[in-house]
Amino acid sequence: MIEFKNITKHFLTKKNSVHALNDVSFQIDDGEIFGIVGFSGAGKSTLVRMINGLEKPSSGQVLVDGNDPGKLNKKELRAMRKQIGMVFQQFNLLNSKTVYENVAMPLILNKEDKQMIDKRVKEMLAFVELSDKLQSYPDQLSGGQKQRVGIARALAMNPKILLCDEATSALDPKTTDSILDLLKKINDDLGITIIIITHEMHVIEKICDHVAVMEKGSVIETGKVQDVFSAPQQAITKDFINMVVKEDVPEGILKNLQYSPETSQIWSIKYWGANQTVEIVESLEKTFGKNVRIAYVTTSLLQEHTLNILIVLIDTKEDIAEKVAETMIPYQVLLERKEYEC
Ligand SMILES: Nc1ncnc2c1ncn2[C@@H]1O[C@H](COP(=O)(O)OP(=O)(O)O)[C@@H](O)[C@H]1O
Ligand SMILES: [Mg+2]
Repeated sequence: MIEFKNITKHFLTKKNSVHALNDVSFQIDDGEIFGIVGFSGAGKSTLVRMINGLEKPSSGQVLVDGNDPGKLNKKELRAMRKQIGMVFQQFNLLNSKTVYENVAMPLILNKEDKQMIDKRVKEMLAFVELSDKLQSYPDQLSGGQKQRVGIARALAMNPKILLCDEATSALDPKTTDSILDLLKKINDDLGITIIIITHEMHVIEKICDHVAVMEKGSVIETGKVQDVFSAPQQAITKDFINMVVKEDVPEGILKNLQYSPETSQIWSIKYWGANQTVEIVESLEKTFGKNVRIAYVTTSLLQEHTLNILIVLIDTKEDIAEKVAETMIPYQVLLERKEYEC
């Protein structure tokens, strides 16, 4: 388990002091895929680099299986780092070495014997499906292949934790998905805890179990991915989720429906599982008659779960909040009155 306890971090530069982290506390359980999402400069890399002691907190504590990396001596720290693999956005491969040599590097540095190294490197390159590239050089590979080499190298020492800092940010969407599938396979087959830093919500949606949303050095929201996606609490989280789940009615649609806040109300109805649009609209019509109009319907797949969003206009001036809530009881939905400027 990894625990962040009231972590703060400031960097002193020649000109000023940068507050990179502000009282950050949360924990990551063994075997999880944990996503940390936030805009550039939010403090994600600084936080994650504390797990293997590359950064030290200004105050607070990081515990990795009960050990504080900041308190270990050099030898202990080296032993601990073997348990933690790292994957980077720019791959960080040695261009003058072959794929085989790149993956062998951590094993050579650890003075493993040649036979063991050979077996392990071939095993890892088979795992990332690059057995045919052993003697290629990084320059001869695509971005996705380079990242597979980076991942094979990170796995060579058989780590318990894999840190991925923007590992897919330099890749196109299709290649991103194939790398995410590989990370999922690593988690499933090898049981390795994976921590993924990203600024793309798609990455979180596709493979993460839990997520922490960071803004300006603070964690502003954290929870199970499904919970955060269906009921985000913070404006920034909503902005991120909008990258993958379209839940805002495009302005033109409201215009075409001649929506006016004086005469209509907008209700957003969200629920997981099978699509029940027809049933829900029929129930609303039973209560509100012809005043119900469908504005927008979307369905998004989040991992293997379906999130449905139905947005309706109800043409009335009355306060109908209770009636709407009552009508929706059988459907177990998240209900929200929306305000749009027009
Ligand atoms: N070594 C450093 N010296 C000074 N400032 C730093 C250093 N590392 C990071 N920072 C600052 O700390 C803040 C958080 O950076 P970082 O953790 O890299 O954010 P992220 O990974 O979310 O983009 C930024 O304002 C960055 O400029
Ligand atoms: Mg970063």
